[in-house]
Amino acid sequence: MLKLQNEDFLDEVFKSIKRASIFLDRDKLTPDYVPENLPFREEQIKKIASILAQALRNSRPNNIFTYGLTGTGKTAVVKLVTKKLQERAVELKLPIQTVYVNCRQRDTSYRVLADIIESLGGHVPFTGLSLAELYRRLISKLESLGGRFIVILDEIDFIIKKQGDDLLYKLTRINEELKNSSLSMIGITNDLNFIDNLDPRIRSSLGEEEIVFPPYNALQLKSILEDRAKIAFRTGALDEGVIDLCAALAAREHGDARKALDLLRVAGEIAEREGDEKVRKEHVEKARKELEKDKVYEVVSTLPLHAKLILASIVDLTRRGKDSATTGEIFVEYSKKTSELRLETLTQRRVTDIISELDMMGLVSARVISRGRYGKTKVVKLIANLNTVLNALKDDEILESVVDVDK
Ligand SMILES: Nc1ncnc2c1ncn2[C@@H]1O[C@H](COP(=O)(O)OP(=O)(O)OP(=O)(O)O)[C@@H](O)[C@H]1O
Ligand SMILES: [Mg+2]
Repeated sequence: MLKLQNEDFLDEVFKSIKRASIFLDRDKLTPDYVPENLPFREEQIKKIASILAQALRNSRPNNIFTYGLTGTGKTAVVKLVTKKLQERAVELKLPIQTVYVNCRQRDTSYRVLADIIESLGGHVPFTGLSLAELYRRLISKLESLGGRFIVILDEIDFIIKKQGDDLLYKLTRINEELKNSSLSMIGITNDLNFIDNLDPRIRSSLGEEEIVFPPYNALQLKSILEDRAKIAFRTGALDEGVIDLCAALAAREHGDARKALDLLRVAGEIAEREGDEKVRKEHVEKARKELEKDKVYEVVSTLPLHAKLILASIVDLTRRGKDSATTGEIFVEYSKKTSELRLETLTQRRVTDIISELDMMGLVSARVISRGRYGKTKVVKLIANLNTVLNALKDDEILESVVDVDK
């Protein structure tokens, strides 16, 4: 018996060593890691650095607005440049401070202001102060510390969509009240519509300098992956063609470096799990499917309640063996659910609009067909993976009772 236990234990140790033979340092492929070298972004790095360098000459750097599609290096570049600036400021003993806030995670004006104040060493209660009071505290903090402050508002569209542009307007005007200090902002977004809808006054002050991040092409992605693979994988752990495949798949998806790195990381994880000593193209294919599932799950779980109910109705009809359903049938199902939950029912018109939105997100496909003398109708079909959608829906507490998993 004892021997057996020992054997189990030894087995485990050897297995884990075999598993470790793929990655040298997996963390180098995770989104938190910011590489010191960001090829193909020299132009953006130089431009941002030269604007921020004003702080080293003791004057206020212009506000910067950066935009580009997801995974084009915006966050990485801004973090790298501000980190270097900060290091230089320490060397020169200059009062320069940078503060990073992610507005997706801190999506209220209160949280954003509180975060900035706290990063500067102030204290703010979790709730309870008025925004005007927070704003005053920020001014007094900046003035008492003195110097050049640079606030990075990443994913800035989130705060505006949720809270309007009041905070941004105030922050762009704050310098009028500062004598001993100044505040510059770097706004980052991947939502190109957002820019067009921004109040022109805010756009012109936030966008004193505008910097665009174009997508990467397949060759650039390949080179980025090769650099990263050297520090993340053991020599020889990648089979031929693996990097090319990850680069090609991510290039197809508008040149997203995050997607390329995710594919490579997940492919490595799958190879490890399967006990393979090499990452092969098959693992990349599996990684693509896994990431696709994660994306569907995320999209579904962040839908508004009524969109979820409509999707749940389509799912129910699909599971009852209907290959596609008409908007009328979906509306009937949806109304049953809202009355079961004692919620108001949206109009059929609005439901049809939401179905079109689900179509645009790639969860369902909706197409108009002619039914001869009965006129036209829309038929809707679920195209995302049924189980993934179902899992995401049932993870919402409110929907639990109307989404029956074992049906
Ligand atoms: N030129 C590059 N060289 C090496 N790695 C890069 C480069 N550009 C981006 N990356 C890496 O790709 C990933 C995505 O980059 P980043 O987070 O900066 O994208 P982003 O433009 O901020 O995207 P989003 O709009 O979705 O936030 C990060 O892991 C980053 O390190
Ligand atoms: Mg980013």
